[in-house]
Amino acid sequence: MKNPIHTDTLEPDQPFCNRVEELSSLSGHARNGMNVVIFAPRRYGKTSLVRRVQHQLRSEGVCVIYAQFMRLVSVDDLVHRLAKAVVVGLHEHESLLDKGKRWLRHLPSVQPVFTLDSSTGTPAVSIRMTSRPKDSLDALESLLEELGALLAKDDFHVCIALDEFQDIVDIKEPRVEALLREHMQRHKASYVFLGSRRRVLVDIFSNKGRPFYHSATMMELVPLPEDECVEFIRQQFAQGGKHCPEDVARKITRSVEQYPYYLQALAYRVFELCEDACTPEHVTQGYELLLGNERYSFQAILQGLSAGQLKLLRGLAQDGQAQLTSTAFLQEYGLTLGGVQSARNALSEQDIIEQLNDGRWRIVDPIFKDWLLQAF
Ligand SMILES: Nc1ncnc2c1ncn2[C@@H]1O[C@H](COP(=O)(O)OP(=O)(O)OP(=O)(O)O)[C@@H](O)[C@H]1O
Ligand SMILES: [Mg+2]
Repeated sequence: MKNPIHTDTLEPDQPFCNRVEELSSLSGHARNGMNVVIFAPRRYGKTSLVRRVQHQLRSEGVCVIYAQFMRLVSVDDLVHRLAKAVVVGLHEHESLLDKGKRWLRHLPSVQPVFTLDSSTGTPAVSIRMTSRPKDSLDALESLLEELGALLAKDDFHVCIALDEFQDIVDIKEPRVEALLREHMQRHKASYVFLGSRRRVLVDIFSNKGRPFYHSATMMELVPLPEDECVEFIRQQFAQGGKHCPEDVARKITRSVEQYPYYLQALAYRVFELCEDACTPEHVTQGYELLLGNERYSFQAILQGLSAGQLKLLRGLAQDGQAQLTSTAFLQEYGLTLGGVQSARNALSEQDIIEQLNDGRWRIVDPIFKDWLLQAF
């Protein structure tokens, strides 16, 4: 039987658990031309959610543009990714080989290039920048101006999603942020900024000294609600022709603390392990398989950390939640105050650890925490 459970970014037609309110308020904000910031840890479903919203908007006649800014390396890279996303979005809205051609006169610095995929026969569009300003910032400014002129036309509504937006900071060109803000605030479009390095992303919009301060509505994705997860898993099993009793679905849900990606990843393994109906033992086995599978990405995280950061992580894995600067924590794990402070900053910038409302800290990813406990 084909396993019906998906662990990649979900396409709009694939089963999706809950997020009903988020979907409705996001599409509402987009229709109203408001800007939104969506923030959540890695693999919480940000991209899937936005693609779903954009799919819905597209069916209502909205032109949707989606750009991925993950690991941006330069201003040129940013210009290219944004320009390509604009051209692809326009082309999907109305073919640039046909009626949509009229938009291109507003984008003189971008030339679309059409190719035919030889194996599938489907047309693909990419871009070439026509003019080459000496300065990359000039190129960005021209593109944003042209985009502004295009958006000002009153015959269409546009929703532009910028995924992993906080990675603009890694370009280390401080003028980029101000330039983007200056133009985007005048653009007749709804922008959705999303990302997983929450501290970095949220700071862009909540720090008074920064250009994007208070320019968007903040939306945090939280873990999925338990009962909906249980129902969702049971339905997926049923769809694949297998039975998942409620107590087993609940065990799956709780083992991963309703973390969206792990929910699917564990359910996938349990589905593989069982014949017709799954049991709690399948969940235990599936969980071990999941830990085994994730170890490569977890090891890669550890490789990038300093000795002080590793010590802090070890302490947090063991204590679950901790007051990092308490004497007890420092003594127990052989840390100094200065060492903890710099390790804490570095780890929270990467969204590996987070601070709770009561001031204590914990590891963001519950499966990583479990794996650390086994590894240390
Ligand atoms: N609402 C949901 N219902 C079911 N599964 C979900 C849901 N949201 C996320 N997932 C699961 O989480 C996985 C990751 O989703 P997605 O790629 O959209 O997350 P992301 O937050 O954008 O991740 P990344 O941080 O890697 O960019 C999906 O493959 C899916 O298995
Ligand atoms: Mg994503």
